[in-house]
Amino acid sequence: MKSDFLKYQAQTTPHPLAMEISHAKGSYIYDIYNKPHLDFVAGVSACPLGHNHPKVIDAIKKQLDSYLHVMVYGEYIQKPAVELTKLLAKHLPKSLEKTYLTNSGTEAIEGALKLAKRATGRSEIIAANKAYHGNTMGAMSVMGYEERKQAFRPLIPDIKFINFNSFDDIEQITSKTACVILETIQGGAGFIEPKPGYLEHVQHQCKKVGALFILDEIQPGMGRTGKLFGFQNYNCVPDILVTGKGLGGGMPIGAFTASSKLMDLLQDQPKLGHITTFGGHPVIAASGLATLKKITESQIIPKTLEKELLFRKLLVHPLIKEIRGKGLMLAIILPSSEIANALILKCQDRGLILFWLLFETKAARITPPLTISNEEITKGCEMILEVLDEIHS
Ligand SMILES: Cc1ncc(COP(=O)(O)O)c(C=O)c1O
Repeated sequence: MKSDFLKYQAQTTPHPLAMEISHAKGSYIYDIYNKPHLDFVAGVSACPLGHNHPKVIDAIKKQLDSYLHVMVYGEYIQKPAVELTKLLAKHLPKSLEKTYLTNSGTEAIEGALKLAKRATGRSEIIAANKAYHGNTMGAMSVMGYEERKQAFRPLIPDIKFINFNSFDDIEQITSKTACVILETIQGGAGFIEPKPGYLEHVQHQCKKVGALFILDEIQPGMGRTGKLFGFQNYNCVPDILVTGKGLGGGMPIGAFTASSKLMDLLQDQPKLGHITTFGGHPVIAASGLATLKKITESQIIPKTLEKELLFRKLLVHPLIKEIRGKGLMLAIILPSSEIANALILKCQDRGLILFWLLFETKAARITPPLTISNEEITKGCEMILEVLDEIHS
């Protein structure tokens, strides 16, 4: 299988981890030798309830027996998509009431950027250095990392970059600006939280100049930071909220949410302002609905903060310089990228899954299922400390 994997399936790096999967359950992924791997990554924040949660699997199976794809997005009434968007509205501020479901996070970013241009009639977009919003042309245009996009230029024009957390840079948001797009907590950059008052100031400046404020919650959303959405930790509300990853409960999804007044602009001038064949797919929406229900009807969200404390208490080592992030979106910062690499690969050999961040090479990501138990956290942290001791000696 490995040689076919390398020969036929397109790769994104010359050195994929290439673990062959047999099955997955709860916080564990099992390889074909039936070796359990404790999952501290959750499919890169995409499996908030862990693997094969019975409520999610039941919802998917039920929907499979009823119907799969029947029509392009938005024409027919399909209960799973309606219920998912309604439940999202229930848990969001009133101004975020209408949701467009897409196939991926990057596509939701495209939709949000288009909506901002359509609503303001302006073209300038402001994004942050070291931001990651996805890999299609529009989303890549707002990625704040030149090295990774140079080869694909020209990208979309009229994009300006500011430094995340710089209060001075906020002045660059003017009446020419269609929108400002930020991650609520910067992911690829190294799990950088916004400074107190920063997002509030950005929102205030956007309001002042008539620009839209877009927050990308594709990674921090769905309970990972101790609130259902990361922005709910701060005193701000975006005009457009972009979500994805965990919203699908392990299935491919993206979504952007705004007021009805804004969202309805996509119906007119031009009509069909954003269309997709598979967005809002009934099986995926059923999986998302079961996931959102479980997360919001249980104590999963407040417990993420207790679990963060446990990680911070256990992960004390001379090689750990800092632990960044919030809730169960944590990054261990190590002295060098070589040490980060060694830690991730040695842990993989021992049966603990860690992973890299996109741009911060000295980091190892810890974004486990939100359902991970304290015992599993303790076991995984012990493995990390043992490996760090080995590297240190
Ligand atoms: C903050 C953020 N935005 C956008 C995306 C893109 O989402 P997708 O990979 O589903 O297209 C990601 C994915 O890692 C992300 O972390």
